[in-house]
Amino acid sequence: MPSVALDGEPVPRTGDLPEPSLAQLGERPLGFYVHVPFCVTRCGYCDFNTYTADELVSRDGTATASRETYAGQAAAEVELADRVLTGDRPRVSTVFVGGGTPTLLSPEDLGRVVGEIRDRFGLTPDAELTTEANPETVDPDYLARLRAAGFTRVSFGMQSARPHVLRILERGHTPGRPEQCVRWARQAGFEHVNLDLIYGTPGESDEDWAASLEAAIGAGPDHVSAYSLIVEEGTRLAARVRRGELTEPDDDTMADRYLMADEALAGAGYTPYEVSNWARSPEGRSAHNMLYWTGGHWWGVGPGAHSHVGGTRWWNVKHPAAYAARLAAGDSPAQAREVLTAAERRFERVLLELRVDGGCPLDLLDARGLAAAERLVGEGLLDAGAHAGGRAALTRRGRLLADAVVRDLT
Ligand SMILES: C[S@@+](CC[C@H](N)C(=O)[O-])C[C@H]1O[C@@H](n2cnc3c(N)ncnc32)[C@H](O)[C@@H]1O
Ligand code: SF4
Repeated sequence: MPSVALDGEPVPRTGDLPEPSLAQLGERPLGFYVHVPFCVTRCGYCDFNTYTADELVSRDGTATASRETYAGQAAAEVELADRVLTGDRPRVSTVFVGGGTPTLLSPEDLGRVVGEIRDRFGLTPDAELTTEANPETVDPDYLARLRAAGFTRVSFGMQSARPHVLRILERGHTPGRPEQCVRWARQAGFEHVNLDLIYGTPGESDEDWAASLEAAIGAGPDHVSAYSLIVEEGTRLAARVRRGELTEPDDDTMADRYLMADEALAGAGYTPYEVSNWARSPEGRSAHNMLYWTGGHWWGVGPGAHSHVGGTRWWNVKHPAAYAARLAAGDSPAQAREVLTAAERRFERVLLELRVDGGCPLDLLDARGLAAAERLVGEGLLDAGAHAGGRAALTRRGRLLADAVVRDLT
């Protein structure tokens, strides 16, 4: 596995990119990720770069950053992107507003950031404009205004249908609310709606998971994501696991839960197009995630957001106050960057493309990887037909062991 410079190299104050990376802009689609770093409370399992109102107050009681001024700062970073991404650049095909809790901002504020991207870069005719939404923060009026602001897709964090599982996750919504949100989103004119689920929460039984899947499917979204719960260091959940109050499920249980999801979703007409993502039709797939997984360019706006253009990756300063200060001074909010070598880019392509249904081309692999691919076909982890056609593509069993397969191939 290639080494990754964690600290990275310095970025010029202008945010300018290396010429060879810029020159590749026209070759692949371009997307924007917009991070909204605010939450009402922090869920016990989450280590994302997000802040509650209390965490944004300095010792003398003044706010160091606020939701009210955030859209203007994000728009200023889009303006910077417009200055940096010169030359032959494509129109923007996807925007994904994520968090944190984007829906703590008004739909008009979110629309303002998307409008800035549209006005400066232009959007492709079928551009996908998604926002994440927390179920308790939206209602029919909010969703109608979101649609009016131009969003085409909405993604709700459901996680589980069971009250005791939601309690362990410290989620702030009531069971049933996410399903209600899907119906409201449909009424508001959203054709594309996602529900995010989590499996493997301590205390969740097979029955609980089956009930969550049934509830999600019953709500009729055209996309479902199901991720295993990661117990992240430094979270309240990790502390409870360490103290022995909660027990993580073992690998076999996790594998069973994944297969339960795959069976239930396939039975309801959802196709897995990536290891953890299922869609009811090709149009229902997340174009933004596909852009990430297939080597597209994306600019990440906001505190702590990561970006990638033509083999250069950079990441912004994490704290909203530091982010605001950089932009107010007319400087790039980038903290550091790394320029990937050809070998690192090949490794990334295998890592990401292998998880997508068509897999990755075999010619990305070296001799050792090619030998491993043949062995993995024999073991039933890679698809024989795809292999004969020059690609490494996971079978259903291979999806269960995707990380191990990547390790073998690289
Ligand atoms: C970071 S959240 C942002 C959107 C929104 N605040 C929410 O919670 O749905 C995006 C997704 O990441 C998931 N997530 C966060 N931490 C996770 C963890 N430790 N393991 C698995 N999924 C996680 C959330 O549950 C959510 O579905
Ligand atoms: S609402 Fe989402 S982003 Fe906020 S703390 Fe919970 S999981 Fe993390």
